[in-house]
Amino acid sequence: MALNFISAQDAAEQIKNGDSIGLSGFTASGTPKVVTEALAEIAVKEHEAGREFKVNIFTGASTNDHVDGALARANAINMRTPYQSSPDLRKRLNAHDAHYFDLHLSELAQKMRYGVFGKLDVAIIEAADINDNGEIVLGTGMGIAPTIAMLANKIIIELNDALPKTLRGLHDVYLPADPPYRREIPIYKASDRIGSPILKVDPAKIVGVVKTSAKDGVKGFTEPDATTMQIGANVCDFLLAELRAGRLPKEFLPMQSGVGNVANAVLHGLGESKEIPQFEMYTEVIQDSVVELMEIGKCKFASTCSLTFSDDAMDRVFNNMDFFHDKILLRPGEISNNPEIVRRLGLITMNTALEADIFGNINSTHVLGTKMMNGIGGSGDFTRNAYLSIFSCPSVTKGGLISNVVPMVSHLDHSEHSVDVLITDQGIADLRGKDPVQRAETVIENCVHPEYKQLLWDYLKMGKGGQTPHSLNAALAFHTEFAASGDMRNTDWSKFE
Ligand code: COA
Repeated sequence: MALNFISAQDAAEQIKNGDSIGLSGFTASGTPKVVTEALAEIAVKEHEAGREFKVNIFTGASTNDHVDGALARANAINMRTPYQSSPDLRKRLNAHDAHYFDLHLSELAQKMRYGVFGKLDVAIIEAADINDNGEIVLGTGMGIAPTIAMLANKIIIELNDALPKTLRGLHDVYLPADPPYRREIPIYKASDRIGSPILKVDPAKIVGVVKTSAKDGVKGFTEPDATTMQIGANVCDFLLAELRAGRLPKEFLPMQSGVGNVANAVLHGLGESKEIPQFEMYTEVIQDSVVELMEIGKCKFASTCSLTFSDDAMDRVFNNMDFFHDKILLRPGEISNNPEIVRRLGLITMNTALEADIFGNINSTHVLGTKMMNGIGGSGDFTRNAYLSIFSCPSVTKGGLISNVVPMVSHLDHSEHSVDVLITDQGIADLRGKDPVQRAETVIENCVHPEYKQLLWDYLKMGKGGQTPHSLNAALAFHTEFAASGDMRNTDWSKFE
């Protein structure tokens, strides 16, 4: 069956108001880039004509400005899941213009197959290559591509000639059987290949192929600053102490690293350390720092769901595919983040908190308790099942107006039961084997910024007994003080006595 090449506008015309759309990719990588822009233009025209036009969007993770940015600006998103990081969409969902629910990323594809979200009308899949039989070499991120290709009534392909054909062989496309027929996923080391290098779709469902040359356009990271460098150094010190104490095997264990500037700086720190042995990664994203770690031989192998590299780093990889080809596997999100594999491989997981409380609970998502930042992403998939789960964050934000360590988190994503270690620029709190008061003492002593230490010691003393001695009327006083005066340091406990 010959491929039918069409324009992005004609492809977008296939999508109707109220449709549910699934997109390939994970972060900006592997995510379609032109059809959704054309869809946003249709939405604007429909709104101008006084007609409703909104769609439901399912993705592997966050996307790019061509998807979440363009569609949010056009107010064309009804429902969105499982993760986003777009400033424009953030405004929409915090204003309830778009219905967003964030979800553990490993769960979305199977929930779609279980029928939780109804039928999927259209899948848009980015391809580096495709043949008449519907055999696709995917782009630089996979996400939920295998599931949406199976479920969607119609498939639109974005064939991207900025992607080299040498991407073939980097993907490991695998769909687990659904319960009650699911078996173990046969991955016993990060580099185990279990699926196919190509995604096979039913060619009869392909309604058109749109040509593009658009790059992923991932923004470069902020260079590590003194704070993030110190966090990175503290993470290294902690891991080295674990190695020396024999609590980490001398061969080391595969690592997962989260998203953002802090995560990037932590990996940079691991690269700088002479004593950290060579390691593998089993993770959902690899960022620019991993390219360097591979080039210097520190990272031997990375199993991931996406190559979230800036355009410069991506060019370095594309220009040296012979070197990188046997060091990277791209998997679907439900495999890269699979709890069974995380537990089996014994991952060291390193994720970033917006805020932590003195007892070790973590808020990764809600700024000051109410405003959604990005979403839980894969942090829960990894943290809950880790060999060793580490959370890190700066001790203060906004020049000290906000303490990232608070009496009680204003929103809970990861409970104290899943958090082994908290690390800030101030130091390391190993929470394992400690009761709540011991945890609070360790966190205040080691992780809190000097300007907030006494406030938090005083809060702990105010506690009215019980195993976790909170003062419930004062537990969110840091947050209410910030809302009132713009500076958590003004918190006055005498108001609560
Ligand atoms: N209260 C209010 N604002 C806060 C804050 C707090 N406690 N902590 C951080 N912020 C603000 C920062 O000031 C910054 O704001 P700006 O954009 O205006 O400068 C912003 O939040 C991001 O903080 P930054 O320190 O640059 O962190 P980051 O880039 O490392 O991202 C998370 C941190 C938590 C937002 C990010 O890691 C995330 O979304 N995590 C959840 C998903 C996840 O963990 N996925 C990984 C699984 S692999």
